[in-house]
Amino acid sequence: MTFSRAIKIAPSILAADFANFGAECRAVEDQGADWVHVDVMDGHFVPNITFGPATCAAIRPHIRGVMDVHLMIAPVDPYIDGFAKAGADFITAHMEAGPHIHRTLQAIRASGAKAGLALNPGTGLDGVENLLDMIDLVCVMTVNPGFGGQKFIDMTDKVQRLRAMFGARPIHIEIDGGITPDTAPVMARAGADVLVAGSAVFKGGSVDNPAPYGDNIRAIRAAAENAIGVAV
Ligand code: DX5
Ligand code: ZN
Repeated sequence: MTFSRAIKIAPSILAADFANFGAECRAVEDQGADWVHVDVMDGHFVPNITFGPATCAAIRPHIRGVMDVHLMIAPVDPYIDGFAKAGADFITAHMEAGPHIHRTLQAIRASGAKAGLALNPGTGLDGVENLLDMIDLVCVMTVNPGFGGQKFIDMTDKVQRLRAMFGARPIHIEIDGGITPDTAPVMARAGADVLVAGSAVFKGGSVDNPAPYGDNIRAIRAAAENAIGVAV
């Protein structure tokens, strides 16, 4: 996987048909998704439960490209190998999930996956500078994690500061929560390159009628690319 700051759209299957994950993953990729974002919730770190490594392993063969696993769980460390064996390309853990994020990121890299660090809206950047050599991605939450379909919380300042801090380092800046064609531009301008979107991608479509997924993905991408001056 070569590093690139080009805009990538990552549909979150939290907004997909849970009885049809394989077909949903194939449908969004066929409709232009760059990555597939997989939200794992434990009912403890966040007030909602989704699924675990077995489901990730089951959907892996249905994803041709990048499987981006967002762990909203605590503790994290006992489950890292399970998600790596399930085929996750990126495993992202929350700064707030425990006292030993450094150890967690070491364990993610040791598992063979790329390491992501997620920051809740209320979390600052204090610890991030100490982790720059250990991360491949920072996920800036623009909602409080736990549910899809929430209202976007503007984190422009945080994204700009991260972008300046990273310089030429190959670290992705991912935005997660409330992304639509209206909110994508400000995040792209601030320096984000991976845009996660659940509701805004899956709305209006289904595996039997996937064309709206493509329209939705193109609308988010065009809004973001226009904002940063990419010819579309
Ligand atoms: C929130 C999840 C997000 C969420 C995004 O806890 O991490 O990935 O599903 O969904 P939308 O795009 O609907 O806000
Ligand atoms: Zn997520």
